[in-house]
Amino acid sequence: MNAFLFSDRHNLLDVEIRLCPDCHRPSDGPFGVCDSCMASREAKHEAALQRERAEKRALAWDRMCPRLYRHTNWKHPDLSPVFCGLAHTWWAKDDGMGLGIYGPSGVGKTRAVWEILRRHHFAGRSVLATTAQQIQFAVGDFHSDTQMDRNAARKLIRDCKGAGILFVDDIGKERSTPAVAAVLHDIVETRVSNKLPILWTSEMTGEDLAQKLGDNYGHGLIRRLREFSTVIAA
Ligand SMILES: Nc1ncnc2c1ncn2[C@@H]1O[C@H](COP(=O)(O)OP(=O)(O)O)[C@@H](O)[C@H]1O
Ligand SMILES: [Mg+2]
Ligand SMILES: [Zn+2]
Repeated sequence: MNAFLFSDRHNLLDVEIRLCPDCHRPSDGPFGVCDSCMASREAKHEAALQRERAEKRALAWDRMCPRLYRHTNWKHPDLSPVFCGLAHTWWAKDDGMGLGIYGPSGVGKTRAVWEILRRHHFAGRSVLATTAQQIQFAVGDFHSDTQMDRNAARKLIRDCKGAGILFVDDIGKERSTPAVAAVLHDIVETRVSNKLPILWTSEMTGEDLAQKLGDNYGHGLIRRLREFSTVIAA
């Protein structure tokens, strides 16, 4: 075979024939790449993007989820079977309904919600996990002398209001002051108005929580949590 057939471009009776740089077959595609090789280049590029997104998502998960909750043996005898079931089946719908998990310490409330968050995170949903105590600390930091602490506190509260799915662990464990109750109320009110679900856990009954949170906000907040989340007990 004549060597000129292997060059990228040649003239034969004044007709220019371009060869695809990938498969070396004649091509009239853009940039000389034939349609089939272009499709294969695009598929490879898309696969690389997907791998990159999956890696980023996995890294974000490792940053968010404490190591203790990354791996759960669902056959562990201490865990509530009801919560194990929820961990694998509960899914956030568009109606904004959340999930409240109520029960004593050590029955797997926190583990169940982390598993629910994991499934939503890897499905591409925006999730944020915090605790009632972290919200309490943030409220304390609103007036911190350090600007960094003030900014971090405001960011946490802002994110609590806007995250696609919010997990607030251990409501009732916070030291409740009127300011903390007001912020919790504001977060819940903003979220339910925007149909954004809250997943929460507590060891306290609604009555005890309402009392703890005080006259101004307690009953309103508990009423909203009850109305806008399905409450499941161990
Ligand atoms: N790797 C594990 N897999 C499953 N359960 C575990 C594991 N390690 C500890 N546990 C159990 O998990 C329980 C704590 O789970 P957690 O979700 O924190 O409970 P809760 O939030 O209800 O207090 C404890 O009873 C503990 O014995
Ligand atoms: Mg817990
Ligand atoms: Zn080609």
